[in-house]
Amino acid sequence: MDGIIYLDNAATSFPKPDDVHEKMGSFYRTCGVNPGRSGCDMALQAEEMVSGTRKSLTRFFNASLVQKGISKDFNRLVFTSNATHSLNIILKGTIHPGDHVVTTWLEHNSVIRPVNHLVKLGAEATFVKPDADGYVDPEEIRKAIKRNTKLVIVNHGSNVIGVVQDIKAIGAVCKAAGVPFAVDTAQTAGVIPIDMAESNISFLAFTGHKSLFGPTGTGGICVADDATIEATMWGGTGVKSAYPYHLEEYPYRLEAGTSNILGIAGLSAGHEWISKRGVENIYRHEMELMSLLEDGLREIRGVKVYAAPNKSLRVPTLSATVNGFDPSDVGTMLDVDYNVLTRTGLQCAPLIHEHIGTAPHGTIRFSIGPFNTKEHVETAIRAMGEIAAQRN
Ligand SMILES: Cc1ncc(COP(=O)(O)O)c(C=O)c1O
Repeated sequence: MDGIIYLDNAATSFPKPDDVHEKMGSFYRTCGVNPGRSGCDMALQAEEMVSGTRKSLTRFFNASLVQKGISKDFNRLVFTSNATHSLNIILKGTIHPGDHVVTTWLEHNSVIRPVNHLVKLGAEATFVKPDADGYVDPEEIRKAIKRNTKLVIVNHGSNVIGVVQDIKAIGAVCKAAGVPFAVDTAQTAGVIPIDMAESNISFLAFTGHKSLFGPTGTGGICVADDATIEATMWGGTGVKSAYPYHLEEYPYRLEAGTSNILGIAGLSAGHEWISKRGVENIYRHEMELMSLLEDGLREIRGVKVYAAPNKSLRVPTLSATVNGFDPSDVGTMLDVDYNVLTRTGLQCAPLIHEHIGTAPHGTIRFSIGPFNTKEHVETAIRAMGEIAAQRN
């Protein structure tokens, strides 16, 4: 580990806080049984941990309801394996042949590909283009909505250029049109506050292994109390076993089979960790380093930076290219010669690269986490400067 400078936190956060490792180990050793499948003490404790995590994450994504003392059904927070799984459940559970879905050019392949498959099966889709800086105009979303539109699904924070969309304004457009609104918060959950009620979000897809600091293989969906979605996975739920069909009530409606309690225990510890540190404090630290990185990279001859221009509306992720180099070669040099770990290429988001003119080779992506330091960023800037100097 010593000497490694990990600047790929948009892929997954690393390292995870010690609390996460400790909770996973101790919980699984003492309570690693099937929750909700028997009445023994261990199973009850496992079930308590799972439902406690549902409750705290439901509160986390619904702060305005909590402040007003309005209770939200926490069973409508369901656990999945990752954001991709969540987004698939949302799209397949709401879009049928003949239906129309509105989405954007900022999306990750975890939205683009399921949408394209649904189109193959007879659905229609509109991909709304952002402006030159990557911002989606809510008015363009309004114009794209048609009579048969059944869902608007939008990336909240870009994993390529860090731009954060105005989901409150897009949510208001969806509310006025009576169309359910889904948000991919893979890059924002745990980074910037998200409030489902304020932004009129029907389905919030999150991942557990990025800025919520859970382990890989965790994620979920928070479903608004007035939103409807069909189950697309059927099976055992541990309750009402004689009933011949999948249960309609939550959380079972969108969960089947034995849940990932090891992962959920880690996710609950990760969530507690960011809550103790304060999401705003983590964000402030990450954005200070991001600004330092951006300013440093912009001064290097031959380096081009691709980042959201408004520093108050972004996540700590940016992209760069170096004149005369394939981004993947720069990534290898950063890794081998400087121990700086980044992500290169199209980062699973090909449309936004087309939009910013970096397809097909993509960019070198830098993404900051809470364990990064000023020295890490300075080394990355120096490394990029030395690499660029070879050709510029
Ligand atoms: C914007 C965005 N959406 C979805 C995903 C998919 O997340 P997961 O790997 O948890 O499925 C990612 C992962 O990088 C992402 O950046």
